[in-house]
This record gives sequence, C-alpha cells and structure tokens, in this order.
Amino acid sequence: MDLTGRVAVITGGSRGLGRAIALGLVEAGAAVAVASRKLESCAALVAEIEALGGRASAHAFDAASWEDCDRLFAEVTERWGGADILVNNAGKSPVEPSSLETSQAAFDVILAINLRSPFRLSALFGAQMVARGGGAIVNVSSSGSRKAEPYFAPYAAAKAGLNTLTESFAKEYGPTVRVNTVMPGPFHTDGTKTWSRSKGFAEHARKNQPLGRGGEPAEIVGAVVYLVSDLASYVTGACLAVDGGHLIARG
Ligand SMILES: NC(=O)c1ccc[n+]([C@@H]2O[C@H](COP(=O)([O-])OP(=O)(O)OC[C@H]3O[C@@H](n4cnc5c(N)ncnc54)[C@H](OP(=O)(O)O)[C@@H]3O)[C@@H](O)[C@H]2O)c1
Repeated sequence: MDLTGRVAVITGGSRGLGRAIALGLVEAGAAVAVASRKLESCAALVAEIEALGGRASAHAFDAASWEDCDRLFAEVTERWGGADILVNNAGKSPVEPSSLETSQAAFDVILAINLRSPFRLSALFGAQMVARGGGAIVNVSSSGSRKAEPYFAPYAAAKAGLNTLTESFAKEYGPTVRVNTVMPGPFHTDGTKTWSRSKGFAEHARKNQPLGRGGEPAEIVGAVVYLVSDLASYVTGACLAVDGGHLIARG
C-alpha cells in the first residue's frame, strides 16, 4: 500500500484514531496535513513525523466552524499544492443525560462537527481532486450509526448522515475520486476513556462481542490506508466496519 508522493489531510489527527491514521499514512509514504483545534498538539505530531523522516504540516482547525473548513482547504492548497487524500476523522460523541435534556446548542455542535464539516471539506477537496485527476476520501463514522443507543441520538444520526454523504460524494465525484466510510466500534482513546477502560465495558465486551475487547488505535490504520490506496481502486461508496464484531454483538 504505497502512498509515496501523495498528500493526505487528516482532521482530528493529533490524538486517538486520527493520530494512529496519520502515522500509518506517513509510514505508507504520504505527506500529512494534521488538523485539530490545538495547533501545539498538531505541531508536536509533525515534529515526531519529521524526526522519523516524514513530511507533515500542522493546522489549527475547529470542525464546528464552516469558515475553518475553508481556511484549512486554503492552507493545505498553499502549503502542498492540493491534497490527494482526505480523512474526515474529527468527531465528538458526548453522552447527554437524556434526549429531553439535550439543548439546541449541543445538538447543533454535534451535527456541525460530525456531519457539516465532512460535507464542506469533501466538497472543497473532492472538487479539487477531480480537477487534479484523482483522489480518495475516507469518512470516519461509527458502528453507532447502525446501532443507535439512548443518549446518543444526535451523534448516531450525524454519523448515519455521514454514511449517506459517502454515497452521495462517491457518485458526485466519481469516477475520479473514491469515497468510502470506516465505522469504528469501541476503541480505547482519550475520547472514550470514561467508559472504554471501565470494568463494566470490559466485561460486556468479553461476554457479547465476537472479539471480546475494545480496539487499540493502531487497529484502525490498515482499513484506512487500504481504502485510500490503489489496492482499493474498485472500492467506492463502501462502509467498512472495524469494530471487533460490535455490530453483530449480542448486546
Ligand atoms: N474511539 C471510539 O471508540 C470511536 C468509536 C466510533 C467512532 N469513533 C470516531 O472516530 C473519530 C476519532 O475518535 P477518537 O476516539 O480518536 O477521538 P479523540 O480521542 O477524542 O480525539 C479526537 C481528535 O479530534 C480532535 N478534535 C476534537 N474536536 C475537534 C473539533 N471540533 N475540531 C477539530 N478537531 C477536533 C482532537 O484534537 P483537539 O482537541 O486538538 O481538537 C483529537 O485530535 C471520531 O469521529 C469518532 O466519532 C470513535
């Protein structure tokens, strides 16, 4: 899976699954534009990548902001001349006390981060990829988009919308650009530490999930690198679960 000479943009690339994916893309030969809210976290990863002999750039970007999507596109285009790969990974999955207590502001920000920003970035970078003659987009959704749970409704709905965006953009920007989804199940990251390291989760996963445990960030990398590589040249509009069997679990 050789990505030498390609430029990849990854949102939420500074920590968790995004960080693992960024390092995987670099290992495959790509230069990586790492974007998240905290510029210093992105810069620290860029320094790490450069120390490994890779090429990368750091970008401050809030996925809740449409203007930041436009600014990220402009910065990447200026720095690298454009992108060949976009990974829409930044996401937020707050658990609300109940649907009744979920505010309009909370609902709007969940939709903006998980759905609106991938839409805007896919529109911008996808159109650019068409003009440049090729490219690949991967949207990081969630097994929760297919198996919604209480207190999670706006997030699950946003990720289900993201699955639909994948199909829509695969048609709009095909045949030049391929667009696919990966659906992570429960992974151990900062974003999930309140529950994924708990005894209750470990017990539940052991009893109900085919692979019996949560995933480690490195275990998402192969799927994403595959989908953006030429090995997946006939794969578009697909939704690949990387979830330890969460979707087919008993509970
Ligand atoms: N971990 C899981 O179990 C799991 C399961 C299903 C789906 N997912 C999806 O996988 C993706 C990554 O999850 P994760 O668990 O790795 O998350 P994480 O550990 O919380 O890391 C989130 C990353 O996104 C950045 N980020 C957060 N809010 C942002 C915003 N508004 N704008 C730009 N960047 C933002 C963070 O950096 P800054 O703080 O610097 O912004 C960080 O780099 C998300 O889309 C999530 O919904 C994860």
